[in-house]
Amino acid sequence: MEPILKVENLNVYYGSIHAVKGISFEVNQGEIVTLIGANGAGKSTTLNTITGLLHSRTGSVTFLGETLGKVPPHKVVSKGLALVPEGRRVFLQMTVEENLEMGAFTRSGTAAEDMEQVYTLFPRLKERRRQIAGTLSGGEQQMLAMGRALMSRPKLLMLDEPSMGLAPILVEQIFDIIRDLHQAGTTILLVEQNAQAALSVADRGYVLETGRIVTSGTGKELLTSPAIKKAYLGG
Ligand SMILES: Nc1ncnc2c1ncn2[C@@H]1O[C@H](COP(=O)(O)OP(=O)(O)OP(=O)(O)O)[C@@H](O)[C@H]1O
Ligand SMILES: [Mg+2]
Repeated sequence: MEPILKVENLNVYYGSIHAVKGISFEVNQGEIVTLIGANGAGKSTTLNTITGLLHSRTGSVTFLGETLGKVPPHKVVSKGLALVPEGRRVFLQMTVEENLEMGAFTRSGTAAEDMEQVYTLFPRLKERRRQIAGTLSGGEQQMLAMGRALMSRPKLLMLDEPSMGLAPILVEQIFDIIRDLHQAGTTILLVEQNAQAALSVADRGYVLETGRIVTSGTGKELLTSPAIKKAYLGG
């Protein structure tokens, strides 16, 4: 079977800075694939290039058999690719419910049923449906950002450091939800600095160092690799 997402030899620059250096990887239907790496490794640059927010100098991104290169970001969403960006970026002045409604704007049909599904996944959001998003805690904003992305009924959900800045208990909750989504059949590309948590949920992983993929393997292989343990899992 063709992979749902195929990234081939991607090279991305910011002016003269070569941030992503010939990256290739793929995500298959139903998988959780993780990209792990330290600050500045090129993780967000890779995700932002896949969604069309940035453009690569060379290389290609193929999603469901279609080359994305020139497709603008809003069209990418309507094709079934949703990104929860680093730092959440929910609409701070809007209520929880209004934020969720915004997530459904790229497709036709009613949002009510999807909203109920999101509330089942995140009961905390249901309690706070009329609350202004800017007054939610960091963890609740992360849940809202994920819920909003799910409202577009993505075929591939990309999460950019969902655990960033969250207390351990909330990190656990977010990863439990990632597991639930996986069980329900959602395909996920997960970017994390929290290598331990990410590799524990992932089917496969790729390790990025200064713009290059240096290692890849199953989540289990990477978790038990001495080199990865030393560099990313605290010894
Ligand atoms: N707008 C920009 N202009 C110039 N350089 C940039 C820009 N955005 C990112 N970079 C550089 O590109 C490299 C990759 O950055 P990127 O944000 O992709 O890293 P990251 O792996 O997501 O890191 P983090 O874990 O800190 O979010 C870094 O060296 C960064 O300084
Ligand atoms: Mg980043």
